[in-house]
Amino acid sequence: MNFLTTFTMTVHEPVYHIPKGYSSLQVMLRAFRFSRSPITEVCGNMKKFGDTYSALFPGNLQLILTQDPGFINHVLRERHTNYQKSEMSAGRGAQLFGNGLVFSNGDYWLQQRRLIQPGFHAKRLQGLYEIISRTVDESLASFPVGDNIDIYPLMYRLSFRVAIRSLFDIPLSAETMTELSQAFTDVQNFLVDDIRQPFRRLLYPFNGEKKQALERSAAMKEMIRGIIRRRKADTASYDDLLNMLLTARYEDSGEGMTEDQLIDEVLVLMLAGHDTTANTLAWLLYLVANDEEVRQQLIGIAKAATDSQSCIRNDYFHAVIDEAMRLYPPAWIADREALTDDEYGHFSYPAGTVIMTFFYGLHRSSDYWEVAEEFHPGRFLDESGKIRKMNAFYPFGAGPRMCIGNNFAMAEMCLFLQAFFTRFTIAATDQVPELKPLLTLRPDKVLLHIRRQ
Ligand code: HEM
Repeated sequence: MNFLTTFTMTVHEPVYHIPKGYSSLQVMLRAFRFSRSPITEVCGNMKKFGDTYSALFPGNLQLILTQDPGFINHVLRERHTNYQKSEMSAGRGAQLFGNGLVFSNGDYWLQQRRLIQPGFHAKRLQGLYEIISRTVDESLASFPVGDNIDIYPLMYRLSFRVAIRSLFDIPLSAETMTELSQAFTDVQNFLVDDIRQPFRRLLYPFNGEKKQALERSAAMKEMIRGIIRRRKADTASYDDLLNMLLTARYEDSGEGMTEDQLIDEVLVLMLAGHDTTANTLAWLLYLVANDEEVRQQLIGIAKAATDSQSCIRNDYFHAVIDEAMRLYPPAWIADREALTDDEYGHFSYPAGTVIMTFFYGLHRSSDYWEVAEEFHPGRFLDESGKIRKMNAFYPFGAGPRMCIGNNFAMAEMCLFLQAFFTRFTIAATDQVPELKPLLTLRPDKVLLHIRRQ
């Protein structure tokens, strides 16, 4: 064997079977279309290529987008140890929001998840229901009635208040609430543009955009640091999430979290906990306003409810919420980066490939859902009216990184439905909300006619 033969035998590159899709030039040419309307663009591509396609981003970043439930299951559950949150999203997010659960990876993520998860068990959340109900009642006391009212900002404020109160059950001044909420929105908006339009990064040294976002985030962290210090000095007892975080102890050392760790986790719970719920409730009210039968059912159940426990467990409430999240999943897409080469079906791809799980497309696929585009809460109920588990349905993700706050969110939304539909009734307008897919899937606005009952 001569040198040349040996050389050609040993250096051949592995051959990957990447799904069909777009080259990096095509990605650049389509960048504007994508950043203006990512959901329409991805849905169009799914139709063109099948349930899975690829896009090669500049810098040789290989993306695979999929709405195939088998592929999603492979990445999030079956082979989850081979995947982590990608640098593209979690890495950029961590720079602004810190290293809390949503943005961390590996051993650190696992250690934090084990520490925090018990606090979100349905049983441990009982104490929070009273705080949630009280906050919802307060918010609804000043709820406006009239024609063409945009309920999105109202749902946003309500969910933000619930998130803050559940974390810190202390009165915060209106200025502190507004300041925190504004800082959150600013930093979040920056993060969305940063992820979706990476080309903007070239301008940061000149336009100061990133510096400003980092300053906003530092200010937010200082506000939370102040609240934590006041709490530590307080001798009263509390049943809120901050108390859960403060009293949680690592199994091995018996120690609690440091102040900086606490701040990161508080920020993440605030971030993950309010936007998602606000979006679901705004889309839900829009759908219900357009469906007389469902509206009457909700009003009937709300009025008949005797206690918060029965609301939280009500199957019909759950079915309506599930159906709203099917059509408008707040987490419309998730991402995972492969740690080593992997394969699924007849596809194979190298380490570093980012798989984007497109829940929005799957939730509306006629392969898995009958009359997929229509609002039918009944599809989530069996013959005896009990909630059914559906396979092609991922509102809270799946696998070990599944939403930690799912029980909390469902309870909050059920308590809201009960409180809202005993006081108000709603009717549709001609307006059809537009999709605004940021970190979560928002409506641009939702105009409804609202009346007191
Ligand atoms: C309708 C409401 C909500 C929806 C639809 C939702 C959805 C999701 C989804 C899909 C994920 C997984 C993302 C991924 O796999 O990349 C997730 C993660 C997470 N959610 Fe939620 N969420 C909601 C409410 C909440 C609430 C109320 C909290 C906290 C109070 C919360 C805290 C978190 C956290 C901390 C994670 C990260 C978990 C981890 O990576 O270990 N979420 N959520």
